[in-house]
Amino acid sequence: MFKIVKARDYDDMSRKAANIISAQVILKPDCVLGLATGSTPIGAYHQLIEWYKKGDVDFSQVSTYNLDEYRGLTHDDPQSYHFFMRDNFFDHINIDLANTHVPDGSNPDADAACSEYDKMVAEAGYPDLQLLGIGNNGHIGFNEPDDHFSKGTHCVDLTESTIKANSRLFEREEDVPRQAYTMGVQTIMYARMILVVANGAAKAQAVHDMCFGPVTPSCPASILQLHPNVVVVADTEALALCE
Ligand code: PGA
Repeated sequence: MFKIVKARDYDDMSRKAANIISAQVILKPDCVLGLATGSTPIGAYHQLIEWYKKGDVDFSQVSTYNLDEYRGLTHDDPQSYHFFMRDNFFDHINIDLANTHVPDGSNPDADAACSEYDKMVAEAGYPDLQLLGIGNNGHIGFNEPDDHFSKGTHCVDLTESTIKANSRLFEREEDVPRQAYTMGVQTIMYARMILVVANGAAKAQAVHDMCFGPVTPSCPASILQLHPNVVVVADTEALALCE
């Protein structure tokens, strides 16, 4: 069962999501957060930075595990998710960078990079709270629509629709990496609480299918219907088909 929280717009969605994340950190200062990249969570990260600067939330004991990373990008590549996380969040709060983790896209050995990541997430005890965006095609992390649900961290070929959607952040579509390392759906499901954020009309179908469609790997987010503790914070446009 999902708890659906309706937000007025992007800013309202971001504040509500940030409130939930900051409550988690206040209740358990040494919590494990699963984090996401993409345009949707940026506002929540910026809100958390503001509250950190005001002294309202302390990240000194928090550790983080990101969902995914492009394969073949170095950590300092401005298009990498390593860079994104530092730029939008980690460099502006008091988190210990040694406690932040993102799959190692710079390791060309996919099996080693992925199994190492799975081991780290398992040893950390899995996230207390996993933040997720959702793709227009219902993907979570880079778990694309498929004929089966994935398990642990693995290397994926990105779909044309994801390459197209993400090309807005690159100079040219050809520059978008074709592969990524991503946490699997099973790993995501181990999180004790899942917070999905979505905004805009382009997400309306995916949000509807996630909440009310059949549980099927053709909409990877639909597996979340089987999770006991999911909160969806979405704006009116993203919830347009859920009325
Ligand atoms: P977006 O991506 O936040 O940039 O829309 C979400 C996702 O693809 O998971």
